[in-house]
Amino acid sequence: MLSILSTQHDLKNYIANKIAAGKTIGFVPTMGALHEGHLTLAREALAENDECIVSIFVNPKQFAPHEDFDKYPRTLDKDSALLEDIGVQSIFAPSVDVMYPPDFQSSVTVGNISKPLEGEFRPHFFTGVATVVTRLLLLVGAHKAYFGEKDYQQLQVIKALQRDLAIPTEIIGVPTVREASGLALSSRNAYLSPTQKDQALTIIRTLRHMADELKSGQPIAQIEATATENLLSAGFDKVDYMTIRDADTLLPPTPTTKSHRLLAAAWLGQTRLIDNIGVSSK
Ligand code: PAJ
Repeated sequence: MLSILSTQHDLKNYIANKIAAGKTIGFVPTMGALHEGHLTLAREALAENDECIVSIFVNPKQFAPHEDFDKYPRTLDKDSALLEDIGVQSIFAPSVDVMYPPDFQSSVTVGNISKPLEGEFRPHFFTGVATVVTRLLLLVGAHKAYFGEKDYQQLQVIKALQRDLAIPTEIIGVPTVREASGLALSSRNAYLSPTQKDQALTIIRTLRHMADELKSGQPIAQIEATATENLLSAGFDKVDYMTIRDADTLLPPTPTTKSHRLLAAAWLGQTRLIDNIGVSSK
């Protein structure tokens, strides 16, 4: 049976009972509109722990005023059914007031790793994510928490805050789940028309092509420029970045770079899509 918890008090009681019964707890934070990517995180949490708790909270602090907070898909009934089907035992679905009571006045800002890429294009974003994730990790007190590599920089930011603030939950990264076509699953794919969904495939195709070019020794600046052109000619309206970075720092690679991460953020109409892949060192 699936328990749907919505207050801090109910969550604390529920967790305390499980801990008292000697259960290990895996935690999957989400914003809902669940797809196979989220469900893969939950399945992994279930495989490695006795209990899986999934949070569903569209976090206002990580959206800028002009972004899609109001239109972000909210499908709690469908999400609950999907989670119950795969054996998840509980959902934490708090209101904004529960997550941010009226006197809430703290925030968590992570340093260097949150500055490039998403940090440049969505300056408010990582403080919003870090604040909510810190609060969720501390409220739930799970043994392990699961995050997708789909949001690679977010995963690195969360690993940094967990380490720096000595949060006792272990952070586990899970590889990106894709459609057979290669398209990374995303709640925002729901905004795409069928034509745009086809165009969206250019992101992963181009990232894979960039990886081949990198391995064959082509200059990085040239690979990035061609890739950006490629997206624009496939119908993307704007490319925020299409870039090859050091996988640890997310800065441009240096001679000491051990592995590379290729990251993309681009707009199809009003929809901003992100994706990334890794290239291990030769
Ligand atoms: P959301 O976009 O709902 O994603 C929740 C989790 O699912 C994140 O860890 C994300 O990386 C992972 N995920 C999304 N698509 C995936 C895919 N195709 N394959 C594997 N994992 C995937 O990310 C957030 O919510 C929020 O920022 C949150 C961390 C919940 C804080 O509000």
